[in-house]
Amino acid sequence: MNAVLSVSDLSLRFSTPDGEVEAVSNVNLDIKKGECLGVVGESGSGKTQLFISLMGLLADNGRISGSAKFQGKELIGMPLRELNKIRGDKISMIFQDPMTSLTPHMRVGKQMAEVLIHHRGMSASDARKRALDILDLVRIPEAEKRLSMFPHEFSGGMRQRVMIAMGLLCEPELLIADEPTTALDVTVQAQILDLISDLKNETGTAIALVTHDLGVVAGLCDRVVVMYAGQFVETGDLRSIFYEPQHPYTRGLLQSMPRLDQIKDENLIAIPGQPPNLQNLPDGCKFQERCPYVHDMCLDQDPTLQPVEEGHMKACHLGGFDEHGEVVA
Ligand SMILES: Nc1ncnc2c1ncn2[C@@H]1O[C@H](COP(=O)(O)OP(=O)(O)OP(=O)(O)O)[C@@H](O)[C@H]1O
Ligand code: SF4
Ligand SMILES: [Mg+2]
Repeated sequence: MNAVLSVSDLSLRFSTPDGEVEAVSNVNLDIKKGECLGVVGESGSGKTQLFISLMGLLADNGRISGSAKFQGKELIGMPLRELNKIRGDKISMIFQDPMTSLTPHMRVGKQMAEVLIHHRGMSASDARKRALDILDLVRIPEAEKRLSMFPHEFSGGMRQRVMIAMGLLCEPELLIADEPTTALDVTVQAQILDLISDLKNETGTAIALVTHDLGVVAGLCDRVVVMYAGQFVETGDLRSIFYEPQHPYTRGLLQSMPRLDQIKDENLIAIPGQPPNLQNLPDGCKFQERCPYVHDMCLDQDPTLQPVEEGHMKACHLGGFDEHGEVVA
């Protein structure tokens, strides 16, 4: 099946007063129709910038190279007018902070209707009906009344739902959801994730789900990429990442994740140290300062992604891990 989004050799650099930093290094990914790809990694690993940049929303000091094709069309370097037509219609992006995507001084109903009138050519009354339906879909009570409210009049959780509703309005082919539920309490989070899952199953929308929460990934994603310091360090289907992780960083993330079957958190082991400073990355493997398995080769040779088995890749000099978690020579 053809990929809805196909990214190859994408890199992203920022110029800063202290020199240039590479926030995303040479990444490749495909997302197919009806598929959900989870992008995980600690804060600063480049998850958000990866998607921001291919949507043409990069900061002025950023520079992108490589290719990102949406339904076969190159997004990198696409004229803004053309990109604007795709953005918000065929590709939707929802963020952790709803205030970044909602216009503060415009009533919610009007904002939603304008999207539909602009992108879909709907009449004002059809657009209003559709806005109501979609607010119902994201389980906003008293939707009719809420249409005439301003974003700041909603609670945080409600505002998040409104933003998700905005993202779903045009039934996008690709939904990029960046930490869509992080600010919400657990119950609302579960409802929103159900909603995204229904959307995927019912409409075949391809989803890129950016999160630091592996629990969210487990519930929704088919495939996972693990990012560290702007690089993909492991990629695979959900099962291989959760049950046969081959990169020490992925293993660290899994060990630091609370699980429902553990009553106490005593088995949780946090990854030692801090995410690396992009200004000051080591030669060799970027994870070396935090890796319990670091050895000579890691200090000066940066590992590249290599196949472990069909559809599963890792960037690490170790032979891998067996089912007991022992290192394979
Ligand atoms: N305009 C900019 N100039 C310089 N560096 C930037 C700029 N924008 C982002 N960065 C850097 O790029 C890196 C990647 O940031 P990004 O926001 O993609 O991380 P993230 O993985 O989404 O983190 P989080 O989980 O905290 O959202 C960070 O180190 C960040 O400081
Ligand atoms: S390459 Fe070396 S330092 Fe990097 S993750 Fe593998 S063992 Fe650890
Ligand atoms: Mg982010």
